[in-house]
Amino acid sequence: MKEINSLVVVGAQWGDEGKGKVIDYLAAGADTVTRFQGGNNAGHTVVYGANIFKLHHVPSGILNPGTLCLLGNGMVVNPLVLVRELEELEKRSIDTSNLFISEKAHLILTYHQALDEENEKRLGNDKIGTTGRGIGPAYADKALRRGLRAAEMVDFELFSRRLAEILPLQNLILREVYGHSGFNLEEMLDLYRPAFERLAPMVSDTGLLLARDLNSGKKVLFEGAQGALLDIDHGTYPYVTSSSTVSAAAASGTGIGMAGIRRALGVLKAYTTRVGEGPFPTEEREEAGDFLRERGNEFGTTTGRPRRCGWFDAVIARYAARINGLTGLAVTKLDVLSGLETVNLATSYRCGGSLIDELPGNLDQLVHCEPVYEVFPGWDEDISRATQKSDLPGAAISYLNALEEAVGVKVELISVGPDRAQTIVTQPSTLNSWIG
Ligand code: GDP
Ligand code: IMO
Ligand code: MG
Repeated sequence: MKEINSLVVVGAQWGDEGKGKVIDYLAAGADTVTRFQGGNNAGHTVVYGANIFKLHHVPSGILNPGTLCLLGNGMVVNPLVLVRELEELEKRSIDTSNLFISEKAHLILTYHQALDEENEKRLGNDKIGTTGRGIGPAYADKALRRGLRAAEMVDFELFSRRLAEILPLQNLILREVYGHSGFNLEEMLDLYRPAFERLAPMVSDTGLLLARDLNSGKKVLFEGAQGALLDIDHGTYPYVTSSSTVSAAAASGTGIGMAGIRRALGVLKAYTTRVGEGPFPTEEREEAGDFLRERGNEFGTTTGRPRRCGWFDAVIARYAARINGLTGLAVTKLDVLSGLETVNLATSYRCGGSLIDELPGNLDQLVHCEPVYEVFPGWDEDISRATQKSDLPGAAISYLNALEEAVGVKVELISVGPDRAQTIVTQPSTLNSWIG
């Protein structure tokens, strides 16, 4: 067996950190890119030149010709949306013949999306603020052992039989609990037949494909979706997504075992954003928040919702580093901070009269936590053309160094714009083996 050459890239805040950009950049040196959790709640943006791609299921490695792209068993897949995503890519001459779907990935079907929307409506002011893509109900059915899986896309008879078994219960819940009209079996079969014909040839034993690549020394990237604070166990529950978003999930979500995981790169914005409801200690609801939203174009890739914005929070970043075992940081959107007189960085919280520097175990306490800021001088220069760290203004370097120290993990990559080219790898770096 050759040396294992793998890197997990995860979000270390509340999602939308720029994982798509970082994966696309690193994919130039990768043989395989695999998604291991989540579904089309993810919206990963890749930009090069005038090309902008918004990916929801498909790994951000797809734009790199020849890279094997896998949708792992830990994912939930909406077949109708995936077909549209593939058509969109093919229309733009992107080759999708290297994409495979784990036979064990669970399907998001029409009733999951309806249940997600109805549940949110019922919660009213207490809603989670989900993406409305049916993610929670699909993972719930998986845990309840009544989900339908990608393998069933290959055997339409089996899918029809299983859907006929499960649909009456789903309709009962939709009708009796939510007053929804429910779904008709024949109509559903007609809806899914063409999509399954398109996707069936892609269904495969992706765990085996991945193990072969890993064991032959190929370079394997794992693409996380969402972020550490949206993790079902470790995030700000219940304001979280329904999957495990941390690096360790790359093992169970692809079936390669823990020996296949070598390093974990945490992606963080140089500030913080969040979409949906839930606690966010460094949120800025006024001027500074508006500045970040406008300059950072902080509107959701999947739902178009304005993102809540605030300062960088080293308390949550340290927590993310711990629960992910981060070996490096990728700091994105540093360019967005240009033009601020001062830049704040939260190093601890004041919580019920005491000062704490670790995220409280009981995350309900977060709503009572006030950030304690260290304030840094800002910079006016446009940094979007910087190609090495030393090109950055002194104030930006001091801010980054303070961020690195506060998180306790080395910054290995700095992003100064959405384009592939606007990326700096700090030297020396373990990422060199990926890019060179
Ligand atoms: P993901 O979900 O983590 O992949 O992130 P999203 O794609 O949802 O959101 C990140 C947004 O920021 C996208 O619109 C990216 O094109 C953009 N972006 C990524 N890195 C940078 C950067 O360094 N500077 C700027 N200005 N935009 C960036
Ligand atoms: P990427 O991969 C940001 C948030 C939703 C909501 C909560 C639950 O682009 O970073 P869900 O639909 O998953 O049940 O919603 O999680 N959320 C995201 N926020 N980026 C994402 O993905 C997200 N995926 C889910 O806004 O608060
Ligand atoms: Mg996103």
